[in-house]
Amino acid sequence: MAQATRTIPLSRPYLDEREAREVLDVLRSRHLSLGPIVPRFEGMVAEWVGVPYAAAVSSGTTGLHLACRIAGIGPGDEVITSPYSFVASANCFIYEGADPVFADIDPQTFNLDPAAVEAAITEKTRAIVGVDIFGYPCELDELLAISERHGLAFIQDSAEALGAEYKGKRVGSHGHMAIFAFYPNKQMTTAEGGIVTTGSAEQLELLVSLRNQGRADTDGWLDHSRFGFNYRLSDVHAAIGVAQVEKLDELLAHRAAAADRYAKLLDGVDGVSTLLADDEDHKRSWFVYVVKLASGIDRDRVIRVLEDQGIQSRPYLPCIHLQQYMRERYGFKEWMLPVAEETSRKTLALPFYSAIDPEDQERVVDALRNAIA
Ligand SMILES: Cc1ncc(COP(=O)(O)O)c(C=O)c1O
Repeated sequence: MAQATRTIPLSRPYLDEREAREVLDVLRSRHLSLGPIVPRFEGMVAEWVGVPYAAAVSSGTTGLHLACRIAGIGPGDEVITSPYSFVASANCFIYEGADPVFADIDPQTFNLDPAAVEAAITEKTRAIVGVDIFGYPCELDELLAISERHGLAFIQDSAEALGAEYKGKRVGSHGHMAIFAFYPNKQMTTAEGGIVTTGSAEQLELLVSLRNQGRADTDGWLDHSRFGFNYRLSDVHAAIGVAQVEKLDELLAHRAAAADRYAKLLDGVDGVSTLLADDEDHKRSWFVYVVKLASGIDRDRVIRVLEDQGIQSRPYLPCIHLQQYMRERYGFKEWMLPVAEETSRKTLALPFYSAIDPEDQERVVDALRNAIA
């Protein structure tokens, strides 16, 4: 009985003594911010991703915002992004006064459909924010070609995709700015935090200055060469990150194995389809485990039935353009983006984390099967 009611959370970070040791070292050093750990963490991430430069920031959202600022996005511009993402994918350029234009997604990948992106371009379009939703790399070659053809900036929101590969290279290593996020539900965490990767030394310099109140590296503490922000990551947070990068391969392998187990358990469960499998060009990094329910299945009821058995699940993801503030600001309505909206009505995130117990996964799938039946 106790077993049957034990809660299975939606997500849980994977921590051990390493994080505690690294954090304690920072605390004992008294050098809590702007110390040596952030650059160490940045170097480790850059090397792991395979990119020359990485700038740590206070969150994925602040990293995206800095990328938008560096891309020169401003008032009156339009920026195209995916409606089937987390709000930060759009908020990042709204902060700079630009207007969101949502292009529909591909029904298989759940990422931006490049043809829909191209069709949405106007003379005001300034940039594209591509998203690697659920760790599946977006159609980089097509989106970069469109950006080049129309003279647009391209920013990659890889918040959910650390470890994903596009055409054999890790996302974040293709030269343009890409952003990763480290909230505790992500593949690896720093509690709160994020990082921007880039192949450009000039962009790195701007990132480092803008995140630190616009100080240039030659400025004194109270000198500010440009208008900036406090988007720094602390050394305490970076210390967690150091310990996490050290075991990142292990974390990703656990997640891939857990995803594999779910796929096998769900095989043959009527009314449930799983995420698109990898192909030669796309390798997913497992962030969440999302299933799509067939038409006619009452998702809210499924969530309630699972909850009654101590199993957390979540409707995932709501469309950005249908969020209340988006409807109020821009007048967005249902049926504007039929593929994203249909996907959004049917997708459900199941409990998923690096150390998920295989027996708990069986419990989740049994409960899901019964809830649907
Ligand atoms: C696609 C996407 N973009 C951006 C973010 C923002 O990251 P953060 O929560 O670290 O600000 C997230 C976080 O969940 C995300 O999933």
